[in-house]
Amino acid sequence: MKLIIDDANIEKVKKVWELYPCDGVTTNPSILAKSGRNPYEVLSELREIVGKDGELHVQVVSKDAEGMIEEAKVIREKLGENTFVKVPTTPQGLKAMKALAAEGVNITATAIYTPMQAFLAAKAGAKYTAPYINRIDNFGYNGVQVAMDIQDIFENNNLPCEVLAASFKNSQQVLELTKYGIGASTVATDVIEGLIKNAAIDAAIDAFNKDFESITGEGKTMA
Ligand code: E4P
Repeated sequence: MKLIIDDANIEKVKKVWELYPCDGVTTNPSILAKSGRNPYEVLSELREIVGKDGELHVQVVSKDAEGMIEEAKVIREKLGENTFVKVPTTPQGLKAMKALAAEGVNITATAIYTPMQAFLAAKAGAKYTAPYINRIDNFGYNGVQVAMDIQDIFENNNLPCEVLAASFKNSQQVLELTKYGIGASTVATDVIEGLIKNAAIDAAIDAFNKDFESITGEGKTMA
C-alpha cells in the first residue's frame, strides 16, 4: 500500500516527507485554501518536495466536463505530466474522465461515497478512486467496508484501478485498510504521526539507553 500525505502545509509536509516513507501528496481545494496563498505557488513547492517521481494529486473545480478538461491541461503544463488530476465523480466528471483517460492523463476519481461511483470511475479510466472513509462513517455507514467493497469490485471485474482511501481520522481506519492491502491511503500529517505515537516505544528506548549509560557514562553512543 502506498502512503500519501493529505496536506498542503509546506512545513508539515516537508517534515513528514523527510521522516516517513511516503509516496506523494494529495490536495483538494479546501486543503489549498488553508494556506491563503496562490494555489500554483503552493503546488509548485509541493512538487519540489516530492520530486519529479513523487505523486502529486491536484483537484479541478469546474462543474462541467469541458472546464475540467481545460483545467487538467493547465495543471499538467504547470506541474508535470505525471501529476494526477483529481476529478469529482459526477456524471460530468465521468465524461471528463473518459476524455482525459483517452489522452493518457493520470486520473484520481474523487468525492467517492459509494462503491458504484468507484465502479463507474474505474470503467471511465481512472487510475485511482478515492473513497472518503471518515465522511462515510459520519453518515452512519462504514467507510472502511465501502473501501473494501470497492477493492473487491475492481478485482472481480478485472478493472485496472486502485483504491486510494482518503479522509482518515484515526490509526485504526488506516490499519484496517493496510491489512486488506488496498492500493494507497492518503492521510493527514497529524494522523500519519499518530500511526507511530506510542508511550511504550519511548519507555522501551529510554530503558535501553539508561542501561547503556550505566556502563559507558552519559551521552556515549556505539559510534
Ligand atoms: C482526498 O482526496 C480528500 O480530498 C480528503 O482526504 C478529504 O478529507 P477530509 O474528509 O478530512 O476533508
